Amino acid sequence: MVWYYTELYLVLIYFISLLDIATASDHSRGQDFAPYHFTDKELIYYRNEVKSLFYESLDNYLEIAYPFDELLPISCVAKKRNFDDPGDIITNDVLGNFTTTLIDALTTVAVFNDRDKFKELVNLVKETFPNGFAIDSTIQVFETTIRILGSLISAHLYATDPSKKVFLGDDYDGCLLDLAIDLGDRLLPAFLTNTGLPVPRINLLTGLNGLTMDLVQENNVAALGCPMFEFTMLSVLTNDAKYEIMTRYAFDKVWSLRSDLDLLPMSLNPQTLAVYTQISGIGASIDSIYEYALKGAILFDDQDLYEVWHDSYTALNINSKQDWLYANVHQYTSMLATPWIDSLSAFFPGLQVLNGDIEAATYQNLMSLKLWDTYGGIPERWNFQPDCPLQGLNNSELVDKVLPLEWYPLRPEFIESTYYLFRATNDPFYLNTGAHILKDLKTRFKQKCGLAGIQDIRTGEPQDRMESFVLSETLKYLFLLFDDKNEIHKTRDNIIFSTEAQPMWISTELKHRYSRNRYFNETIYVDHIRYVVDEDKRKLEKELKNSKNSKQFDLVKGIKRIYNEEAMSPAMQQIHDRFKYQISEYYKPGMCVISNFTQHKDRYQNKVMLSSNLLNNFSKLFEIENIYNETLIKPDYLKYYDQMEINDQFYKIWSSGKAISTPSSSTFSMDIVIDLPGKLRWNMLGNGDIQLDTMYGRRKIRLEKIYPNDLDTYGNYAEETVFSRLDRNDIRSERCIEVGNNTSVPYIYRATRINGIFLSESNNIYINKKAFISDEAHEGGAKFNLFDNFGLNKDHHLLLECIPIVNIFLE
Ligand SMILES: *[C@@H]1O[C@H](CO)[C@@H](O)[C@H](O)[C@H]1NC(C)=O
Ligand SMILES: *[C@@H]1O[C@H](CO)[C@@H](O)[C@H](O)[C@H]1NC(C)=O
Ligand SMILES: *[C@@H]1O[C@H](CO)[C@@H](O)[C@H](O)[C@H]1NC(C)=O
Ligand SMILES: *[C@@H]1O[C@H](CO)[C@@H](O)[C@H](O)[C@H]1NC(C)=O
Ligand SMILES: *[C@@H]1O[C@H](CO)[C@@H](O)[C@H](O)[C@H]1NC(C)=O
Ligand SMILES: *[C@@H]1O[C@H](CO)[C@@H](O)[C@H](O)[C@H]1NC(C)=O
Ligand SMILES: *[C@@H]1O[C@H](CO)[C@@H](O)[C@H](O)[C@H]1NC(C)=O
Ligand SMILES: *[C@@H]1O[C@H](CO)[C@@H](O)[C@H](O)[C@H]1NC(C)=O
Repeated sequence: MVWYYTELYLVLIYFISLLDIATASDHSRGQDFAPYHFTDKELIYYRNEVKSLFYESLDNYLEIAYPFDELLPISCVAKKRNFDDPGDIITNDVLGNFTTTLIDALTTVAVFNDRDKFKELVNLVKETFPNGFAIDSTIQVFETTIRILGSLISAHLYATDPSKKVFLGDDYDGCLLDLAIDLGDRLLPAFLTNTGLPVPRINLLTGLNGLTMDLVQENNVAALGCPMFEFTMLSVLTNDAKYEIMTRYAFDKVWSLRSDLDLLPMSLNPQTLAVYTQISGIGASIDSIYEYALKGAILFDDQDLYEVWHDSYTALNINSKQDWLYANVHQYTSMLATPWIDSLSAFFPGLQVLNGDIEAATYQNLMSLKLWDTYGGIPERWNFQPDCPLQGLNNSELVDKVLPLEWYPLRPEFIESTYYLFRATNDPFYLNTGAHILKDLKTRFKQKCGLAGIQDIRTGEPQDRMESFVLSETLKYLFLLFDDKNEIHKTRDNIIFSTEAQPMWISTELKHRYSRNRYFNETIYVDHIRYVVDEDKRKLEKELKNSKNSKQFDLVKGIKRIYNEEAMSPAMQQIHDRFKYQISEYYKPGMCVISNFTQHKDRYQNKVMLSSNLLNNFSKLFEIENIYNETLIKPDYLKYYDQMEINDQFYKIWSSGKAISTPSSSTFSMDIVIDLPGKLRWNMLGNGDIQLDTMYGRRKIRLEKIYPNDLDTYGNYAEETVFSRLDRNDIRSERCIEVGNNTSVPYIYRATRINGIFLSESNNIYINKKAFISDEAHEGGAKFNLFDNFGLNKDHHLLLECIPIVNIFLE
C-alpha cells in the first residue's frame, strides 16, 4: 500500500505544479508553460525550437547553396570553395566542394528520429557523388576526416542498425560506406611520409602529386594523431586493417614525441619531426588528441589508449591546470607560455565527465559560462592575465586588450560540455544554460537564411558564415540536452560522439567479425610501415616471419611494442640527478563578493524534482568574477546583457534562497614543485586525504600562506590562537632555532591543491618519512635529501622556511 500512497502523492504534486503553471505561464510569448520549470511540456517546446532552427537553416542550404559547401546566412548565397585561388587555405581546407553542410548534418536528422528526412538526405548524398570523391580539391586531411568521413560512417551506422529509429533496412544499399571507403582511400596516402605522420593536406584527385611545400610542412598534433578514430571505425566496418594500422601508427608516434613531463607540443613538421611550438595545453591544435585517446579507449576497448589519456590528463593536471582553466605551458619546463585560453578548450569538461571527474568539469565549465555571460558567446581567444598595465584605458580599449581573437563562429564546445554535465548531474542549472543559449540563438544569432556567428565580439558585428558544425554539433548537443529520452541515452551500446559530434558505436558482433576477418593486403602500406620502423626493422621482420600469415600479422601490436621501448630510452636519459624546487605562479588575493539574492518563498519545496546543486550548494559560483575582474570586461553594447545563472525566474524556482557565495580569500598562494626522478605514485584515501609513500615523480602543491585574521581559501577566518600553538622548530637541524627559540609562528602554510586535485578544508597529506631521503641512487636517480629544503617539527608537520605546513604530516 505504500506504493499506492506514493503514487497518489506524486499525482497530487503534479496537480499542484499544473496549478503553478496555470498561474505563472507566460502567455505573452505564446507558450502555455511557465519557463524554467523544465517540465516535459517546456522541454518539448525547446526541442521543437531547436529543430525549427535546424530545419530552417538546412532547407535554406538545400534550396540556395546545395551542392556547394555552405550557405551564407546573411547574404543568402552559397559559400563556395575558392576555386580561383587554391592557396586560400583558410577557405579551402574545409570546403572541398563536397557538400560539407549536407553531409555533416546527416546524423542530426538521425538524432531527431526523422526517418523520412534522413532517407531523403542519404539519397541526395548518393546522387551527388556518383563517382565518389574524384574531385580536384586540395583539402585538409583532419577536417575532412572529422566532418565528411566521420559523418558518412556515423550515418551508415544509423542506416544499418535495426535498433535505431531511422534504420533504413531495404531502403539503403550501403552507399554511405562505399563513399567512406572511397574517401578513406583518397586520404590515406597522406600518411606515406618519412615518419608515418600525415601531411596536413592532400588532393582528393591527384593525391600528394604537385602539392607545394608550404601546404604540407606544418601539422598540429590533433591533426597528426586523431584520424585514428574515424579510420579505425572504417577498418572495423570493412575488415580492411590498413586504415587502422596507418593512422594508429601515427597516433602512437605522436604520443612518443611527448616531453618527459608527458606534455605534447602543439605542432610539428611531419617529415622531419621538427617542433614548431614547444607549447602544450588543451586548446586549438592539440585538443582532440586527448579526446580521442579517451574516446578511442572506450569505443575500441583499448587499454593502451586509456593509458595515453591517463598519463596526459595527469600531466595536464600537474602542469597546466589552474582552478578555473588550463593554461598553455611550456612543454619542457611547464612555465606559463601564453596568458590566454581558446574557445575550443571549452570541450574539456565534457571529456572530464566521461572520465568521471565531475567536480573538476564543473569548475572548468563555469569558466565558459562566465565568458558567455560577459561576451554573449565564447571569444575565440580570451586573455586571462593582462600583460601590461590597464589603468587609464577606456572600456573599449580594455575589451580590445583582452580579446586577441575576437570572433565567435557558434562553436559547439560550451554547449557540448553543458550537455555532458547535465547528463551526469541532472542539475537544472545546465538546462537553464541551454534555454539561455537557445534564446540567444533565436534573438541574437538568427539571420535571414540561417544562424550566423559573431565576427567581432567587441562590437557585436555578425559574421556572414554558418560553418557545418553549427548544424552537426551545436544544434545536436542543444537538442540532446533537452531530450532526456533520446535513444542515444537509453541504449546499452557504447555510443561515443566523435569530435564532430558524430555518434559512433561498435556492436559485439562487429568487433568479433573484425578480429576474425581483418586483412591487410596492400603492399604499398605494408612496405611503408616497414620503412618507417626502419630502426627496428630486424625485429619486425622476425615477428613477421614468425607469424603464421604474414599478411595478417598484427602490425599494430608490433609497432606499439617498438614505440614503447623507444619512448622509454629518452625518458631514462632525462632522469635528473637533482630535484627541482621552484616557486611559481603567484595567486593574487581577490576581493569579497557575496551574492545578495532576495529570498523567495519556496513554493516547490515538496516537489519531487531535481534541485540545482550549483545554485544551492556551490560556494564559489561567483569567484571567477573576482579572480578575473581585470580581464572579464563587458563590451559596452552588452551592458544590459544578464548573467544567465542569476536569471530571476530561474533563481526563484530552483534556489532554496539560502545560496551564499563565499568571499574570496585574502591569503596569498603559491605553487611549489617537487620533481624527483621516478614514477609518480600516490594513494587517495577514502576521505580525500592523500598518502604518499614515495616522492618520486612530479608533484605540484599549492600552499596558502595564512596570517592571523586572514580569510582563507575555504571562507574561514584564521583565529589567532592557532598560531601560538604551532611549533616552528626543526627537530632535525639547528637552523630554525636561530629565529629566537620563539615557537609561535607569524603565519602558517596550508596545502590546498596537489597535482590539480582540490583538497577540502579537513584533508591532510601524509608522507612517509623515508620518502624524504634517498641514500642510494634509485631508479637511475641520485641521492637526495628533501630535508635540506624542508624541515620537520615535533608535531610531525612539514616545515617550509621554518613555518609549519599545517596539513602535511611526515610519519
Ligand atoms: C563543384 O561542384 C559542383 C557540384 O557538384 C560542380 O558542378 C562543379 O563543377 C564543381 N566545381 C569544381 C571547380 O570542381
Ligand atoms: C577610447 O579611447 C580611444 C583612444 O583614446 C578613443 O579613440 C576612443 O574613442 C575611446 N572610446 C570611447 C568609447 O570613449
Ligand atoms: C585480402 O586478403 C584476405 C586474406 O588474405 C582475402 O580474403 C581478401 O580477399 C583480400 N582482400 C582484397 C581486397 O584483396
Ligand atoms: C580587481 O580587484 C582588485 C583586487 O581585489 C582591485 O584592486 C582592482 O581594482 C579590481 N579591478 C577592477 C578593474 O575592478
Ligand atoms: C543585500 O540585500 C539586503 C536586503 O535586501 C539589502 O539591504 C542590502 O543593501 C543588499 N546589499 C547589497 C550589497 O546589495
Ligand atoms: C553539497 O556539496 C557537497 C560537496 O560539494 C556534498 O558533499 C554535499 O552532499 C552537498 N549537500 C547537499 C545538501 O546537496
Ligand atoms: C634556543 O634553544 C637552544 C636549545 O634549546 C639553546 O641552546 C639556545 O641557546 C637558545 N637560543 C636562545 C637565543 O635563546
Ligand atoms: C614570537 O613570535 C610571534 C609571531 O611572530 C611574535 O608575535 C612575538 O612577539 C614573538 N615573541 C617573542 C618573545 O619574541
